Amino acid sequence: MEINKIYNEDCIDTMRKMQDGCIDLVVTSPPYNMRTRIRNGQYSTREKGEHFSVKYKYFDDAMPIEEFYNFHSNVMNELLRVSKIICYNIQIVSGSKEAFFKMIGDFSKYIKDIIIWDKENGQPAMGERVLNSCYELILILESNGICGRTIQNARFNRGTMDNILRIGRCKRTNDIHAACFPIKIPNLLINAFSDVENIIYDPFMGSGTTAIAALMNNRNYIGSEISMEYCNMAQKRIFDYSSQYKLFTQ
Ligand SMILES: C[S@@+](CC[C@H](N)C(=O)[O-])C[C@H]1O[C@@H](n2cnc3c(N)ncnc32)[C@H](O)[C@@H]1O
Repeated sequence: MEINKIYNEDCIDTMRKMQDGCIDLVVTSPPYNMRTRIRNGQYSTREKGEHFSVKYKYFDDAMPIEEFYNFHSNVMNELLRVSKIICYNIQIVSGSKEAFFKMIGDFSKYIKDIIIWDKENGQPAMGERVLNSCYELILILESNGICGRTIQNARFNRGTMDNILRIGRCKRTNDIHAACFPIKIPNLLINAFSDVENIIYDPFMGSGTTAIAALMNNRNYIGSEISMEYCNMAQKRIFDYSSQYKLFTQ
């Protein structure tokens, strides 16, 4: 497979082309089924024009819960096949809660720890009797399935890495992906769990944040992104980053 490339396709198709264990680290923030909501105790689909028309215009983020669970389980099984370590950033919302909590149980053998990402200024509750949402989770999985909390392939020194990260949310702008994570997150994970020249894979590349963090730390990247628009956005950010880098290092 070509490295330092984003494949404009379903990540399952990209991973089918990969050999077992060819990736050193996965850093990703998958879609979280934002257009599936609960009405009168039942799951239903939020119309595209309702609240999220701009945010999710390039892909359909509304799956029935069982389909959403099956999709993520398939992705996770493939990630465990191709990569040594996986950092899977999940947000608990109405449309993702059941599937992600079930996944935490089903993949518990591989989950070495869970990092709490404290977003500092949380999102206010979407309704009455709902908690404000101030955190996201980053599941840390290792494919060797060795029990315990020791992350065999970790690169950080004892006592230097907490399982709570206090990092403010990405400020949304018109020309960056609506659900991008702050670059500090992939930066930190890449340094903690990989070496120079390693290959970092993001199956849900969005606007290319993981790729830029990989380049900043002298790693290689591979990405998948189903939307052509986000793919183009990522290519442009990577190009801008690389041109600037050359400008300051030549
Ligand atoms: C939460 S966003 C990722 C944002 C990214 N971390 C960033 O910083 O820009 C999830 C992305 O997954 C993409 N996506 C959804 N389903 C996909 C699939 N089956 N394969 C590849 N990409 C997919 C969406 O288009 C969206 O850009």
